[in-house]
Amino acid sequence: MALQIDVISIFPGMLAGVVGESIVGRAVEAGLVNIDLTDLREFANDKHRSVDDRPYGGGPGMVFKPEPVFDAVEHVLGNASAGDDNDPGQTRKIILTPQGRRLDQPLLKELASASRLVLLCGHYEGFDERIFQGLDFESVSIGDYVLSGGELPALVIIDGVVRLLPGALGHPDSSTNESFEDGLLDHPHYTRPYEFRGMSVPEVLRSGNHADIAEWRRQKAVERTLERREDLVANDAQETAGRRE
Ligand code: 6GU
Repeated sequence: MALQIDVISIFPGMLAGVVGESIVGRAVEAGLVNIDLTDLREFANDKHRSVDDRPYGGGPGMVFKPEPVFDAVEHVLGNASAGDDNDPGQTRKIILTPQGRRLDQPLLKELASASRLVLLCGHYEGFDERIFQGLDFESVSIGDYVLSGGELPALVIIDGVVRLLPGALGHPDSSTNESFEDGLLDHPHYTRPYEFRGMSVPEVLRSGNHADIAEWRRQKAVERTLERREDLVANDAQETAGRRE
């Protein structure tokens, strides 16, 4: 059964191009995932088609109004296009907001095992708080920086999830043998030519000795992680220590 992804956004055009290209586009073609884009503005309830309004209490920026968001979400959730796979336990409903749980590879894996994702993209200063209160959504952020809207974060989630779906990548091991899978950054990669502008490929990679190659790659991954992302090693060591207690 294909993963059903619904995205609710005021800029569906920002998503349309990306979901038609590359790995995600191929996965859609192959029927591994179905992606429906819903324009929030179609659920505006006034003649100006407004989805946002000024904040109570004053201050800069605009706030997403509750009515169009509730209507759009209820429309999408009531939509039969998800087939009979509308099991709420298997549906992850996500608001993209910098205030959310920070996305990481374990969360992407969780999401890739759902049968349905509903992604709600915010803008401006944020959502009316009753959207969080009244809709049972989890909040997700893609990192500690601020973007102008939730569309790029939604695309980040879609890309990260879709490439984990069985059959989405050319080679079945492609997603298990990479950065973060074992808590380390990826090792260096080389292809031909053997020598390029005075830089050559490490000899071990041409040795044909698979044990030596695996050992070299592991060592490079550890070195690189310590150099660039010591925090990953520290986290891992803490987790290991925690498990021993
Ligand atoms: Cl999910 N939204 C916005 N607007 N900015 C972000 C983000 C989300 N995650 C990181 N920055």
